[in-house]
Amino acid sequence: MIENTLWTELFRPKTLDGYIGNEFLINKVKQYIETQDVPHLLFYNTHPGVGKTTLVKIIANALDADVLYINASDENSVDVVRDKIKSFASTMGFSKWKIIICDEFDFFTINGQAALRNIMESFSNTTRFLITCNFVEKLLPAIRSRCQEFEIHPPDKKSVAIRLKKILDDSNIKYELKDLVHIIDTAYPDIRKVINIAQHCTINNQLTINKDEKIRLSYMDDVLTELKSAGCEVINLGFCCSGNCHALARKLQHRFRRRTSTCNDADPE
Ligand SMILES: Nc1ncnc2c1ncn2[C@@H]1O[C@H](COP(=O)(O)OP(=O)(O)O)[C@@H](O)[C@H]1O
Ligand SMILES: [Mg+2]
Repeated sequence: MIENTLWTELFRPKTLDGYIGNEFLINKVKQYIETQDVPHLLFYNTHPGVGKTTLVKIIANALDADVLYINASDENSVDVVRDKIKSFASTMGFSKWKIIICDEFDFFTINGQAALRNIMESFSNTTRFLITCNFVEKLLPAIRSRCQEFEIHPPDKKSVAIRLKKILDDSNIKYELKDLVHIIDTAYPDIRKVINIAQHCTINNQLTINKDEKIRLSYMDDVLTELKSAGCEVINLGFCCSGNCHALARKLQHRFRRRTSTCNDADPE
């Protein structure tokens, strides 16, 4: 059963106890929770899977609050602000706070962001926004200046390794330490990906990385190393392809063709 549930959700920490890294920030967050008093908060980092969504959900859970969750990758317009956010903020609640989580807020339209400014102020006696994004520069300065901003730093490799080991131990999954090192070296700093690979490689409560899997996991790193040593510019290549070998191959083909013809930097997708 455990092999089929999505591990990244199953092992998403519900409280600060399971949350690794970012000690300074966590101390701040503890204070907010203890006093049950939060400002508007904005958490950002360009890396996926480093704990942005997890942290805002932990904060919202720990407060005496009614919570509205908006994922801006599919709800991002002025209509969402008017129909959903404003009506949530303006109705009577059952708790001390109304918390509006705006996840992946860099997908929010500029008009939507502009409409939100006013709500952040008008309902500030009862309503707080917890915002996450990858690219903070896509947010209007007016939104940023209303929030306390924190960059979320990826936890160090050792902490990620300890977390992965705990997940496997708690689930009674057998493994070899060298395989955990391999997974972390491949996916770090994306903890979501670390956990996903571990799930992918587990069968009958045994984590096994066989030779083919090792090649698959290392494929991109090896290719990138080769390209670097051949003097090619490979920035963002791995990130764009997210471990998808076919996409990587297509992209490499395109880049090689381009390098040998022009220096145009546009990508095919
Ligand atoms: N700091 C962290 N501590 C513990 N687990 C984490 C942490 N960051 C990420 N994870 C794990 O990775 C998964 C994805 O994290 P998430 O917070 O959704 O990342 P993102 O930064 O993309 O919002 C979580 O479900 C959780 O299992
Ligand atoms: Mg997220």
